[in-house]
Amino acid sequence: MTIFIGVLFVVAAGITLRADVLRRRLSFQRAAGWRLLTVLDVVCVAATVGAALGLIPLAVVNGGLPLYAPATWGIAAAGLLAAFLWSEGRRQLQFQRPAGIVFGEWLILGGAYQLLETAIFGGWPHVPHGAVARTACGVAILMGGAVIGVIVPRFVRRYEGHHILDRVGEQEDFVQPEYVGATAECPHPEWWQMVDSQSSELEVLDFLKSIVITAKPRLIVETGTFIGYSAIKMAEGLKANGFGKLITIEFDPAIFAKAKERIDASGLGDWIEYRNASSLETPIDGTIDILFSDSHLTIREQEIRRFLPQIDARGLILVHDASSHFKVVREAALRLEQEGLISVVLLSTPRGLVIAQKREGRK
Ligand SMILES: C[S@@+](CC[C@H](N)C(=O)[O-])C[C@H]1O[C@@H](n2cnc3c(N)ncnc32)[C@H](O)[C@@H]1O
Repeated sequence: MTIFIGVLFVVAAGITLRADVLRRRLSFQRAAGWRLLTVLDVVCVAATVGAALGLIPLAVVNGGLPLYAPATWGIAAAGLLAAFLWSEGRRQLQFQRPAGIVFGEWLILGGAYQLLETAIFGGWPHVPHGAVARTACGVAILMGGAVIGVIVPRFVRRYEGHHILDRVGEQEDFVQPEYVGATAECPHPEWWQMVDSQSSELEVLDFLKSIVITAKPRLIVETGTFIGYSAIKMAEGLKANGFGKLITIEFDPAIFAKAKERIDASGLGDWIEYRNASSLETPIDGTIDILFSDSHLTIREQEIRRFLPQIDARGLILVHDASSHFKVVREAALRLEQEGLISVVLLSTPRGLVIAQKREGRK
């Protein structure tokens, strides 16, 4: 029986470990992306799944799964903990959360459950109890708290874009489900995909290329290059048209350096003028056919007001992040519409996209 339980544990844990490593785009053959805390993150989830499945035959042999029994509670707790930690792993990827967060939560929640089990079933066979068991649970909870207490404050102090830079510096980008939750206007964000939470959704990137091909702009201005995904897509459109120029503006020097590297490597550099500057200061000469406003959420309105006089009456104003998740942008677009400056269409993508045109001069 012990051998059977051992085999079940190893198989279940092994399958979970492999699935977790694959979704994190890590490899057992490559060191890139691995840290000690990453190892602990994936191992604790695998061990919890193994424990949940390994406990089932043990409980059956020991008299089934009555509701009031430590084995039943243990299986349920391990199952719930495994499901929670798995979803935490997904969020860790989507939001660039720090390595070790899953392990810290595992220590806290696992320790808390063991304390509860000890308090309720302390007199039952196979349930560790007494001062030693309680101390071990307390130590696990404290260690979990310490791990989270050390890594989280360091993580939140830095801008999310820099965490993404770190990740793309270690690993290739990879496609994953969109990160924002459902809204009334976009109830199925999981139908969209992204490479990271700063770059536009992949479908929006394709849309940007299509609209460039459709509208044939001579001058596009993009505020907020980040690592260049949208700039490269729009440049693909310009290349297909055979004319036009994109000026893309990024004020963060580290992010700008990465964008420059990627744009240069894309072979589309001839279509793109990149600037390490602020969108609120850098001068733009000439008439703008497409403005893609995708910088800091709170300055989108200032950008539109700033560039509006230069935007062609037949031109387009595209403003990303205008879903009801990002009220500041959505409300700014609607305010500009109320003032009679622009006409707005709210495209219901996960993060939302405003497609607008200026009212003045419209024929
Ligand atoms: C959402 S990301 C842009 C994503 C990019 N357009 C894409 O879809 O691939 C926003 C970027 O705007 C930059 N940014 C914020 N305020 C800015 C400003 N005033 N001028 C230029 N860039 C700015 C940030 O550093 C960040 O890299």
